[in-house]
Amino acid sequence: MNVYDVHQRPLRDLRISVTDRCNFRCHYCMPAEIFGPDYEFLKKNMLLSFEEITRLARLFRQTSGIKKLRITGGEPLMRRDLPTLIQMLSTIDGIDDIAMTTNGSLLPKFAEELKEAGLNRVTISLDTLDNDRFKKINGRNVSVETVLKGVQAASDAGLSIKMNMVVQRGVNEEDIIPMAKYFREQGHILRFIEYMDVGNSNGWKMDDVFSKKEIIDHIHQVMPIEPIEPNYPGEVATRYRYIGSNEEIGIISSVTDAFCSTCNRARLSAEGKLFTCLFSAKGHDLRGPLRNDLTDKEMIEYIERIWTNRRDRYSEERTNHTKKSSKVEMSHIGG
Ligand code: GTP
Ligand code: 5AD
Ligand code: SF4
Ligand code: SF4
Repeated sequence: MNVYDVHQRPLRDLRISVTDRCNFRCHYCMPAEIFGPDYEFLKKNMLLSFEEITRLARLFRQTSGIKKLRITGGEPLMRRDLPTLIQMLSTIDGIDDIAMTTNGSLLPKFAEELKEAGLNRVTISLDTLDNDRFKKINGRNVSVETVLKGVQAASDAGLSIKMNMVVQRGVNEEDIIPMAKYFREQGHILRFIEYMDVGNSNGWKMDDVFSKKEIIDHIHQVMPIEPIEPNYPGEVATRYRYIGSNEEIGIISSVTDAFCSTCNRARLSAEGKLFTCLFSAKGHDLRGPLRNDLTDKEMIEYIERIWTNRRDRYSEERTNHTKKSSKVEMSHIGG
């Protein structure tokens, strides 16, 4: 059972944003000048309830047979009682992988509860091990140690861990090797993400992108690596292994080596809009139909119709986008 879009891509993966708020202000995602005290975040009554999220996840499962859910934000742990939602999602028949993308700062408080509730994996963002640089990047003076304590808490709780590092030229390319060495020693997969032109706020320029090729060359000179096969069709990170070992890294190269042809992800925003691309200008409202008492069958038909009509290929067409169009903010759909 599956549905296919215009380019014959199945729907395999649902990313659920549970809040648009975050306790960090990373300049490439939520720059403090824009996301300041006057910024209007979503009001509580606009957010999908846990019951609504769980019903939607079940309907997506019934529409397309998805087996994996990823919880995102903003920072998902800013949403009150998140472990309760994880517990509810873990009861859905056929969902065998629940992951969460987080900045790690609140994991010491929640890791154990999340694991008990049924969370399998966390992906923790960290762009440098240099404290001064990290404080500048996160915009809230948070120390590297705070995040590393989160990594440790996740590890102690028995969660699988991956790390995400956004690489920006002139900001943190010199941290590539120290990060690679450190997380290789720790036994956690580190993924390097090319800096992307998501949202409308980060002032992205092509010159700021430190490319996949540059990242690979950089690492290969110090610790030789070789490519390995993807874990599953449509995996976003290209995998590499340190030669002669089982330790791996990943590179997410949306800018210089786009992967739209295999893109099988749907993104649900905290207020219940379905986005079929990370770079979409607008989403399809699912909250209205849910609250207007559409039956499960009607909801499934609606989701099917949205996916069947999907034709997004933003990253592959990026260079053709000469006109500036408004895009959804990263903090709204969680990357
Ligand atoms: P796994 O389930 O472990 O494979 O995780 P994942 O790589 O799907 O999840 P994660 O949230 O860690 O994704 C890493 C980052 O890759 C995201 O935050 C985005 O920055 C980027 N990314 C993920 N999916 C897409 C996509 O479909 N298109 C683009 N352009 N970037 C994506
Ligand atoms: N480019 C690339 N990655 C980004 N992220 C946030 N904004 C950007 C951007 N402009 C990353 C975060 C996190 C994940 C959700 O996306 O660091 O790891
Ligand atoms: Fe928050 Fe993550 Fe965005 Fe940084 S990248 S502001 S931690 S949501
Ligand atoms: Fe998918 Fe859009 Fe990313 Fe292309 S740019 S991989 S279509 S989310």
